[in-house]
Amino acid sequence: MNRLFADGEVIVLVDKVGRRHRVRLRAGERHSIHSGLIQHDDLIGKPEGVVVKTQLGARLLAVRPTFAEQVTGRRRQTQPIYPKDLGAILVGADIYPGARVLEAGTGTGALTMSALRAVGPTGAVVSYEAREDFLEAATRAIVDTMGAIPPNLSLKLGDVYAGVEETEMDRLLLDVPEPWQAAGTARSAVRPGGILFAHCPNVSQVQRFFDCLREVRGFGMLEAYELLQRGWTVRGRSMRPSHRMVAHTGFLCFARRLAEDELFEPEGEGFR
Ligand SMILES: C[S@@+](CC[C@H](N)C(=O)[O-])C[C@H]1O[C@@H](n2cnc3c(N)ncnc32)[C@H](O)[C@@H]1O
Repeated sequence: MNRLFADGEVIVLVDKVGRRHRVRLRAGERHSIHSGLIQHDDLIGKPEGVVVKTQLGARLLAVRPTFAEQVTGRRRQTQPIYPKDLGAILVGADIYPGARVLEAGTGTGALTMSALRAVGPTGAVVSYEAREDFLEAATRAIVDTMGAIPPNLSLKLGDVYAGVEETEMDRLLLDVPEPWQAAGTARSAVRPGGILFAHCPNVSQVQRFFDCLREVRGFGMLEAYELLQRGWTVRGRSMRPSHRMVAHTGFLCFARRLAEDELFEPEGEGFR
């Protein structure tokens, strides 16, 4: 649907070196960047993808922020999951339409919103956050991005290590400093066959998390991987890897909840 830019909405202006400037359009206002001034009225009522000029003649592309830019491009108090990992988590943890997903901690709400998109209106997301100020900030971010708190999202102030009231959840997504402390919660909250995910920035966390799952039992198919994203410069005849890349962010750790108090760890690396 081709919606024209409206008064009050947030857009992104991309300059000639690729810098992105978030701007909330307000009738009668103007926005100043190093290459000149843009009148908001020159953008309101224009289609997405329009190229406008500053009074100094610099060209700027105007587009709506993508989902990844919306959820990670805001000022925030805690580290959101990087876009390169968000998609991999949704596929790796198999977040499907209709799934009931439990999450902790909510943080900025980036993974919460990604999970909401994946479960769709027939699924549900319950997200626990230990800090009231973070929960309030995440609530604002979700309202800003999605227009309101969706009816299938439940945001809860609480400590996931201490246990949760939910049971029979299809998936559990953990992005907390000590995910091994949530192993008991995972046992009681995730249904047999369900998938448990933990984001671990350090390898010592991966080891402790998996050791703890082995200790409490009832989990199998433990696996971890990381994603390195190397961008390419694609300009005319210049086609080469970029000078910088998004290298280490965190290890993505997965396990499946078993029906019995057993362990199931295949010896091989499997065939994926
Ligand atoms: C790295 S942030 C999560 C970021 C989030 N995944 C995102 O995409 O924005 C970790 C969050 O876990 C919260 N937290 C820490 N311990 C917790 C606990 N025991 N229960 C619930 N939340 C907790 C922190 O307050 C913080 O907001």
